[in-house]
Amino acid sequence: MSALAAREVVAGYEPGLPIVKGASLSVAGGEIVALLGPNGAGKSTLAKAMAGLVPVASGAVLLQGSDITAVPAHLRLKRGLGFVPQTENVFANLTVRENLELAASLAGLDRRAAREEMFGFFPDLARLARLEAGRLSGGQRQMLAVARALLAKPAALMLDEPSAGLSPRYVAEVFAMLARVRQAGVAILLVEQNVKAALELADRAVVLVDGTVRLDEPARPLLGDPRLPALFLGAREHA
Ligand SMILES: Nc1ncnc2c1ncn2[C@@H]1O[C@H](COP(=O)(O)OP(=O)(O)OP(=O)(O)O)[C@@H](O)[C@H]1O
Ligand SMILES: [Mg+2]
Repeated sequence: MSALAAREVVAGYEPGLPIVKGASLSVAGGEIVALLGPNGAGKSTLAKAMAGLVPVASGAVLLQGSDITAVPAHLRLKRGLGFVPQTENVFANLTVRENLELAASLAGLDRRAAREEMFGFFPDLARLARLEAGRLSGGQRQMLAVARALLAKPAALMLDEPSAGLSPRYVAEVFAMLARVRQAGVAILLVEQNVKAALELADRAVVLVDGTVRLDEPARPLLGDPRLPALFLGAREHA
């Protein structure tokens, strides 16, 4: 049984105007699936639909086998699905510690215990505990955003372009952190523009083009596969 799955999901922002046009994918515990595709393909929309932030017109989102399509977004973390959006994923004017404690409170957890557990998993964050999140580096901010999502020990974690705007050094840092989260058994769905780095990290890759899944295959063999640029470029030519 997969930890997280989308089954024939149709989703969009306006009724009758689907952006995601029947997409299916699944992620097992301890697996990273990269969700790739050209700009505007619907990757973020699919992730947001799975997080409950964009309405699902038909199809289903499954978490450890149960249908969570109707579960309100704010309850999904408690149910075991964490989501790290691309932007505004931490409170810039709160300290690292306050960010973690607030997330713990919202998830109904013991604030101190949850915070200390995350400091144990991310010693860098413990060192930065008193710093305002707005003063963190890009890589540190992503680490804090992931720690916030991991507090509730989710079975699955979705991230929308955690490497966006980061220098190569921080991309490597964020991806190494995700490898550790995978090691802990979490199912990870990783939306990425950074195709090469994502294929090197992920176990499987799903390529979305115009709201439809065009490839779902083991990730590493796709490095250098000519079908990949063709799917990206083809979409651009027809745009
Ligand atoms: N809030 C919104 N309201 C209406 N349409 C939107 C909204 N957000 C995105 N769209 C549209 O949905 C389509 C898919 O966008 P989406 O952001 O899901 O693509 P993406 O694959 O994540 O692209 P990128 O790689 O650029 O992040 C685009 O045509 C976009 O204009
Ligand atoms: Mg996007």
